[in-house]
Amino acid sequence: MSASAARNYRPETRLVQSGILRSQFGETSEALFLTQGYVYENSAQAEARFKGEDPGYQYSRFANPTVAMLEQRMAAFEGAEAARATATGMAAVTLALMGQVRAGDHVVASKALFGSCLYVVEEYLPRYGVTSTLVNGTDLQQWRDAVRPNTKAFFMETPTNPVLEVIDIAAVCKIAHEAGAKVVVDNVFSTPLWQSPLALGADCVVYSATKHIDGQGRCLGGIILGSEKFIQDNVHIYLRQTGPSMSPFNAWVLLKGLETLPVRVRQQTDTAAALASTLASHPKVSRLIYPGRPDHPQADVVARQMRAGSTLIAFEVVGGKQGAFRFQDALKLVRISNNLGDAKSLITHPATTTHQRLKPEQRAELGISDGMVRLSVGLEHPDDLAEDVLDALKTV
Ligand SMILES: Cc1ncc(COP(=O)(O)O)c(C=O)c1O
Repeated sequence: MSASAARNYRPETRLVQSGILRSQFGETSEALFLTQGYVYENSAQAEARFKGEDPGYQYSRFANPTVAMLEQRMAAFEGAEAARATATGMAAVTLALMGQVRAGDHVVASKALFGSCLYVVEEYLPRYGVTSTLVNGTDLQQWRDAVRPNTKAFFMETPTNPVLEVIDIAAVCKIAHEAGAKVVVDNVFSTPLWQSPLALGADCVVYSATKHIDGQGRCLGGIILGSEKFIQDNVHIYLRQTGPSMSPFNAWVLLKGLETLPVRVRQQTDTAAALASTLASHPKVSRLIYPGRPDHPQADVVARQMRAGSTLIAFEVVGGKQGAFRFQDALKLVRISNNLGDAKSLITHPATTTHQRLKPEQRAELGISDGMVRLSVGLEHPDDLAEDVLDALKTV
């Protein structure tokens, strides 16, 4: 048994100590088991393993010791009974939804979703006979009104991408559970450090581990967490039979990423909060959204369900698209990239990149104006970052 299983240690401790499967060599750091398969002592052991009577490994598409260490460490961090790792965040989202539904079922989702998640809900689910309804996630009545007798799952992302609106997870879970539906929450923007959807009633939490869990821009990955029953009923077999599995190498990188996640995310959040305060009253910034500020549109929900703000800031630069482009192009430290959660500060113009597929009226409905940028705050010195942003705003 690992040390953390024996006591209820705090997250920082669990992130360096939990889930370790130490080999006979007694290595300090987690071993990288770069193997496709496993050998058996004899025929009887192979038979027992395939019958599920012997607990060892069979094949790395569905279980590998390095991947298992990551799954156990993430489960300990999130306070979940079980976890499964996937090749990307999108594999995690797709599996968490597709694993639950059958033709004839119905899914309700918040319309403020990462573009590919929206694509899965709007384009792929209907291809398999699963209908979907999109709602304004901050309007609880819309969730209630969307429920049908065949509603199987609710899906949301909060804070939302890119305008950082916050959905009341506990209230939405209550509506879902009264309707007999399960709730999946994409917790990428908050990280398990600042928000615990399972404790608020969610049945499943998904991550793009590509973001803060790696945090240093190296590899892609995804995680699905929930009760043992949820994972067994909806995720385990689907993952095993269809194979969007995580590579042991990526699991090893992400395990090491988890060790430093609290230090990185805390620093990035502090820098983002300070920068948000500086920018909120800047004459070249016409609107700013940052969870934790008293002027956030759902400040009361933020206070109830989040332990801190975010490493991301959304703000609107005056002058529309031209103003936003001039500002982005004048930045020297902050680089233009659609990624987020990295040690390096990254900025994106959602209207022309991540959300360009949407019609202008859909973007307007989501609050994505032509001047809006999304800044992912990294680990640079807060003063260097502030100087870079303020200098660039002078050019607008
Ligand atoms: C909120 C959110 N969910 C899911 C994903 C998908 O993750 P990945 O790129 O690892 O597939 C992303 C980012 O790409 C995201 O921002």
